[in-house]
Amino acid sequence: MGKSNLLYEGKAKRLFETEDPQVLRVVYLDQATALNGVRKDMIQGKAELNNQITAIIFEYFNQKGLLNHFIKKISKDEQLVESLKIIPLEVVIRNVSAGSFSKRLSISEGQQLEFPILEFYYKDDHLDDPMINDDHVKFLKIATEEEIATIKHEAHKVNRVLLDLFKQIGIRLIDFKIEFGRRPDGTILLADEITPDTCRLWDEKTSSHLDKDVYRKNLGEIVPVYQEVLDRLKQKFN
Ligand code: TMP
Repeated sequence: MGKSNLLYEGKAKRLFETEDPQVLRVVYLDQATALNGVRKDMIQGKAELNNQITAIIFEYFNQKGLLNHFIKKISKDEQLVESLKIIPLEVVIRNVSAGSFSKRLSISEGQQLEFPILEFYYKDDHLDDPMINDDHVKFLKIATEEEIATIKHEAHKVNRVLLDLFKQIGIRLIDFKIEFGRRPDGTILLADEITPDTCRLWDEKTSSHLDKDVYRKNLGEIVPVYQEVLDRLKQKFN
């Protein structure tokens, strides 16, 4: 895996090519951003925590038959993943009102939703990742109707598996964001990461935030809360 051409630099990770064109190396970064990158801080230890958390969750998904791009963790802050063409959609599922949903619809945070609500956001920093609907996805040729159905089906499956997993470790899954990619043959696969950066996780007993809202809302240090999520996951899998 000597080759190291940088393919993509995101807000929380870098993607490098490897000698195998079907495999990429992901390097998690000790960086947190908010407000679409306007606020940015170095947070030592975050990369290792997110690398471990996402690896545990994706390995668990593989056991459950929920296919995803993860291959293996190769160091504290690096993992190998399948090379996919990322679909420029942020797929959000909400179980409980919070964040932009609460703000947009003026619904207080913490209300259990009668059914999981799925939203699409168009990944485009210049447009500030606007929320779009199925027709926009088709119009923009981001995905076909059939692919949209697959994405929705898989996202709801991810939600069911994650809800159950987090419940087992005393955490309420409020909402989360996932991304999908395409294999050369067109198969759609879960990609990116599942970490406290991309989920809202509330402690079941205290409702304290165990996620990036601690950073977004200036509620304290994020490393101890991410560590808490990792410790609970490790306890379950040991
Ligand atoms: P929101 O309430 O701000 O729309 O966020 C919904 C969920 O999506 C929340 O768990 C945080 C996650 N998310 C990301 O992972 N990346 C993003 O850029 C945004 C806006 C949200």
